Amino acid sequence: MATMSDGTPVCDRLWTRARLATMSAAIPAPYGAVEDGVVAARDGRILYAGPRSQAPAFMAAETIDCGGRWITPGLIDCHTHLVYGGDRAHEFELRLQGASYEEIARAGGGILSTVTATRAASEEALFASADRRLSALLAEGVTTVEIKSGYGLEIEAEVKTLRVARRIGRERPVRVRTTFLGAHAVPPEFKGRSGDYTALVAGPMLDAIAAEGLANAVDVFCEGIAFSPDETRAVFEAAQAKGLAIKIHAEQLSNLGGAALAADMGALSADHLEYLDEAGVIAMAKAGTVAVVLPGAFYFLRETVKPPIALLRQHGVPIALATDANPGSSPLTSPLLVMNMACTLFRLTPEEALAGLTRHAAQALGLQDEIGTLEVGKACDLAIWDIERPAELAYRIGFNPLHARIWNGQ
Ligand code: NIG
Ligand code: FE
Repeated sequence: MATMSDGTPVCDRLWTRARLATMSAAIPAPYGAVEDGVVAARDGRILYAGPRSQAPAFMAAETIDCGGRWITPGLIDCHTHLVYGGDRAHEFELRLQGASYEEIARAGGGILSTVTATRAASEEALFASADRRLSALLAEGVTTVEIKSGYGLEIEAEVKTLRVARRIGRERPVRVRTTFLGAHAVPPEFKGRSGDYTALVAGPMLDAIAAEGLANAVDVFCEGIAFSPDETRAVFEAAQAKGLAIKIHAEQLSNLGGAALAADMGALSADHLEYLDEAGVIAMAKAGTVAVVLPGAFYFLRETVKPPIALLRQHGVPIALATDANPGSSPLTSPLLVMNMACTLFRLTPEEALAGLTRHAAQALGLQDEIGTLEVGKACDLAIWDIERPAELAYRIGFNPLHARIWNGQ
């Protein structure tokens, strides 16, 4: 710790008179709570987060009186498709007239209609529309966002999407992790030849993306309307050969055993999981794979089968939450609403919901040593809330109590 000549510890910023939901597993209280807390930051890192009574007498360049407000870790949206062209409002109308999500997809709409719009869009236009959606996330305390490709489905358009995602991370005050989802759907020019398309994804497309260092992870949509378990494995093997982490969209509309396959290969997370069975849960527990549940997609598609929350708890699988922000199945950019939905629809506790957008979301991105809790040495990403108790974050609907958002100590 840096000190003055008389030994007084020095920090850049000090937040005082705060209540902390540290979300640290090391603090046994609910939410890892500290009632009379302070947070100190230096060079963007947490120097101290804990009770005032045990804090060193810091010399701070700036002191912020939080007036008793709650500080949580900055929120982490660990599954989004933020960069895409167009929208799917018309398909929303079709579904209200009785068409199903799968019927629309099989008729060439769905993901493929967004592919057409994304291929046609310039990088500038994609950046501008994603930036508007990002602003909605930031306004509710998000400090880290994962962004997937998957609406290009050809080399140039996938590269373009991930460049835009990376640009967001350079130009906006948010940490961005990018995921290559070339195996999101079979594009029209490969109709009936999904094996050939899988070979393109696992070969030249992944080569181009890895050569530019554009992805942290590789994801596959393993589903009847998308890729089979064998195709999924082939893409994952290619990803791992390049040293990239793997994630999966699995068991969203049916059970193909995708989550277990991904877990057995060491996946960071398996996401959606409405149709996950106990064998899949056990495989995930064994591998330490995080379950990312996406209540926005469940709600918007009017799904009735719920992810097996009780089994996930019973086997100790960490549960993360995310917006799944995308034009087709979850046009949602509110992490606070995600928390409320997770509690009302899936019966998570408000504490589990907050862990789902902080500690467990960090783990779903492989960033558990870097972000997700208020602990010494982690990035100083904070959300400061005008609330009396942390459960309010999940309790309210359509109300944003964010007072301030701190990213990297700023
Ligand atoms: O996460 N499940 C597949 N992919 C997206 C939906 C994509 C779309 O409909 O545009 C999802 O729900
Ligand atoms: Fe998704």
